[in-house]
Amino acid sequence: MKMKLKLYLSALACFLAATSCVTVNTSSPTHTFAIGTNDFLIDGRPFQIRCGEIHAARVPREYWRNRLQMARAMGLNTVCAYLFWNQIEPQPGKFDWSGQADVVDFCRIAQQEGLWVILRPGPYSCAEWDGGGLPWWLLKYDDIKLRTSDPRFMEAAKNYLHEVGKQFAPLQITRGGPILMVQVENEYGSYGKDAAYMGEMRKAMLDAGFDVPLFACNPSGDLTNGFRPDLFPVVNFGADPAHGFKALREILPQGPLMCGEFYPGWFDTWGQPHHLGKTPQYLDDLEYMLTNNESFSIYMAHGGTTFGLWSGADRPFKPDTSSYDYDAPISEAGWPTPKFFQTRELFAKHLLPGETLPEPPATNPVISIAPIEVTQCAPIFDNLPKAIEEAAPRAMEKYGQGHGCILYRTTVPAGPAATLEAAAIHDFGFVFLDGQRIGAMDRRNNNFKIELPPREKAATLDILVETVGHVNFGQEVHDRKGVFAPVKLAGKELTGWKIFNLPLDDKMLAHLKFSSATTAGPAFWRATFSVQKPGDTFLDMRPWGKGVVWVNGHCLGRYWDIGPTQTAYLPGCWLHAGKNEIVILDLVGPEKPEIAGLEKPILFELHREKDFAKPQRPVVKLNLDSATPVCTGTFAPGGDVQEIKFTTPPTGKFFCLQSLNAQDGKPYAAVAELDLLGADGKSISHDGWTIGYVDSEERVAEDGSAENAIDGQTSNYWHTEWKNASPDHPHELILNLGTSQTICGFRYVPRQGNGAGLIKDYRIYIGDDLIQK
Ligand code: GLA
Repeated sequence: MKMKLKLYLSALACFLAATSCVTVNTSSPTHTFAIGTNDFLIDGRPFQIRCGEIHAARVPREYWRNRLQMARAMGLNTVCAYLFWNQIEPQPGKFDWSGQADVVDFCRIAQQEGLWVILRPGPYSCAEWDGGGLPWWLLKYDDIKLRTSDPRFMEAAKNYLHEVGKQFAPLQITRGGPILMVQVENEYGSYGKDAAYMGEMRKAMLDAGFDVPLFACNPSGDLTNGFRPDLFPVVNFGADPAHGFKALREILPQGPLMCGEFYPGWFDTWGQPHHLGKTPQYLDDLEYMLTNNESFSIYMAHGGTTFGLWSGADRPFKPDTSSYDYDAPISEAGWPTPKFFQTRELFAKHLLPGETLPEPPATNPVISIAPIEVTQCAPIFDNLPKAIEEAAPRAMEKYGQGHGCILYRTTVPAGPAATLEAAAIHDFGFVFLDGQRIGAMDRRNNNFKIELPPREKAATLDILVETVGHVNFGQEVHDRKGVFAPVKLAGKELTGWKIFNLPLDDKMLAHLKFSSATTAGPAFWRATFSVQKPGDTFLDMRPWGKGVVWVNGHCLGRYWDIGPTQTAYLPGCWLHAGKNEIVILDLVGPEKPEIAGLEKPILFELHREKDFAKPQRPVVKLNLDSATPVCTGTFAPGGDVQEIKFTTPPTGKFFCLQSLNAQDGKPYAAVAELDLLGADGKSISHDGWTIGYVDSEERVAEDGSAENAIDGQTSNYWHTEWKNASPDHPHELILNLGTSQTICGFRYVPRQGNGAGLIKDYRIYIGDDLIQK
């Protein structure tokens, strides 16, 4: 490895020298952009990139200019934008660059507002977006390997990038446009190590007409995976720039240092506390980078809203909220928060000579809407399309559907109470017998079993599947939806199914038959209401259970009464002066069919008691008394990744990390990431891993849930309770690997940034009976 890296590094040096100056031939004023030995250079002069991320898809197009002006006023000189492949190519070969997908226009407006652009076209983008941007239709191939040199993936990805080039190559600085740099893939090092794959993606970008510098981003722990000297590396981190840039310097001995994603907050998942960033640390770290001439991109400068059915799911399966406020400096509705003004103040101290900051633009008017009674109803079971007949259920993608709901119906014979079990349900399966709701199957805790009551006569069994976002991270992006056969009743497979597509698209909504008769079952509800002067508002979804909401045909996103988000952002530009229409799909039924518009969002109100499935960890007992630790040790202080190898690799289904005390002597334990190493010394895939047992996790004041230790993201972490209780060490986190495996070691990523919970002394147990039912 050392020798190979040396070779790479010398090649990198000549690469940087070569691209020191890029000439421009355009109709508009020309500029040059280059990556110098120490600085980024615009027109040959050092340029510190003060960038912030904004997703055009997550902001109503009518508000793009407002948000970009807000970003400029905050002090940014560059905006970073993802493209989402699945939004742009909803069907194979059908490209749609209109409406919210018209990112070309977004870039033009950025340029008009004095902002440069960094483009991140993918093909994979992550971003808590459905499938990380990867199109569902790729999953029609049973064995496709996404984000690899699998020819089916490659062909589709290159075709997409070719289209991207057609749209965006003319916007490069080399042609008078605002685009400085273009990213290849996204955090590929957290997914694979195949540099050749990254090479093919790079070539596809060059073939697509991109001649500005191409770069790759990764978290500090994955920078060497798939590293190529011909892709300029940047590092992603949420805190402690010194630590992140130290890791980057190991593969980039010279050249400007850039943080590709610097997190002021974090994203929310349903049922977990709302994330609030640590502002003092965020400001300190920004000041550090500004002072040390390091460039950065604030992820997110403005999060916005994941409208439609585009919100994704964190792995293993934690569905993301539709609100993408991200506790960003510019709030979901585009308001300047205290963090905005603090950032602006800080940037004002680091401007180039002659550079000034414009005043923030006015925010859009906000209105409230008095409660409206929602009286019209269209039950799902009365609005079914033509059925597809099948012997056994198959995944939703097989029926040409990528999003929404799908109904699987069969007949069950008369008989005694019995267990109904499916191989799996992605994501929620509401079970009905002759239209009566019996219960729900729930992917969050792999619960695909339900008790059916006795039946005097044959009955219609319905499994109404709600799919929420395709998982957007890790191998779990191979996330097919629907009912997975066999489905068994009392152990006997059920055959002869009818499948009904319910894609929740405009076409389906246009055919719904509403009446004033209401129902407690899964249904669409509708009301009209009038507004005198349209303005932004936040629909109060608290009287409703779980589903999706539309206003005037605009899909505002998903809602769920467990929170933390309790409002749906309704941009004023989508309201009419006069008559408006709202449609609400509720899969579990409203407490009260009423809707109102509030002047403020509700982003942090948890109601786990309302959860239709109440996912909880399997109730098990710790069983370490008779176990012998396979290793005991002391972790080094600080945030560095620590790899521990076992002298004699044990085998087991359970892996237990037990903390005995903490570096700071406090009662808390925290872990950002845990990876296990197989016989080949490589990380074992997290596929099928669940949390077998955890003694304590903070889930009130912050999302310290144990899953954070195995979701691949080093910016969130498992943290033992600290709000309502502070149980002391020892603390145990036990991973259930699903099957017994030989483990040669593990990699421990401590909580990043300065925070409590850094473990000091620890023990490791591995075995098949570390927990008991
Ligand atoms: C990663 C990804 C981003 C986003 C953040 C979390 O670093 O690159 O797209 O998912 O995590 O918000």
